[in-house]
Amino acid sequence: MKLLYPKKDYDGKKVIVTAGGTEAPVDPVRVLTNRSSGKMGIALAEALRDRGAEVILITGHITCSVPQGVKQIQALTNEAMDRAVNEHFDSADLVFMAAAVSDFKVKEVAKDKIKKEESSLILELVKDKDILKGLGAKKKNQILIGFAAESQDLEKYAADKLTRKNLDFIAANDISEGKVFGQDHNRVILIGKSGLKKDLGELSKEDTAHGILDAIMDSVTE
Ligand code: CTP
Ligand code: CA
Repeated sequence: MKLLYPKKDYDGKKVIVTAGGTEAPVDPVRVLTNRSSGKMGIALAEALRDRGAEVILITGHITCSVPQGVKQIQALTNEAMDRAVNEHFDSADLVFMAAAVSDFKVKEVAKDKIKKEESSLILELVKDKDILKGLGAKKKNQILIGFAAESQDLEKYAADKLTRKNLDFIAANDISEGKVFGQDHNRVILIGKSGLKKDLGELSKEDTAHGILDAIMDSVTE
C-alpha cells in the first residue's frame, strides 16, 4: 500500500488518533466494554505516518498491534482517554476520534470483587463524558474528525453528530448485520461540514484510511 502513497502530504502535521474501545470498570477485575478492535484507528495512524505526520495514537482496548514510528498512549477508560487527548489537543492540527468511547459508566465501582452470592445483579449506569463534543466546544484551528457507527439511518444520524459536536468531518460507517466490528473491510461515507459527501465504497480498512486522508486533504486545500 505504501508504494501507492508516496506523497508526504501530511508532513509537519501533528495528529491525534484514538482507537479501540474504552472500558468502564465494574469492580477490580471486571469491565464493561464494546466490540471495537481498533483496526480503523490503527490503519489511520499507519497511513498518516506513511504520509509524513507526527502521530499520537491513544488507545483503549485494542486487538491488533501498534505500527512502528507511532507514539502510543494507552488510555483504557473514558476519563483517561479524555485526559490524554486534551493534553495534546492545543498543539494538534487534526484529531481523528476513531475510538468507541463508552457512553455510560458504572455509578459506583465496587471496591472489592463482586461475589456471586445473589441470583441477580443490577448495575446502575450513568452517562459518561462526550470527549469529542468537549473538543468541538473548545477547538480553534484543529480539524476534528468523528466516526459514527450506525445500524440504521446512517447519513441522518452521522450528519446530526457532525453538527452537534461541531466537527469538520464525520466518517459514517454502516454496522447493520454485524458489519465492521473486527472485520478487515468496511464502507465509509465521509461527510464534511461544507457539504462534502463522499462514498468511499467497500474497501479494506487500510484503503479506507487513505481514502479518508485523500478526501480531507482535497477538501481543506480547495
Ligand atoms: N465519542 C466521544 N465520547 C463519547 C462517545 C463518542 O468522543 N462518550 C465520539 C466517538 O469517538 C466518535 C463520535 O463521538 O468519533 C461518535 O460516536 P457515536 O458513539 O457514534 O455517537 P454518540 O454521540 O455516542 O451517540 P450514540 O452512541 O447514541 O449513537
Ligand atoms: Ca456512543
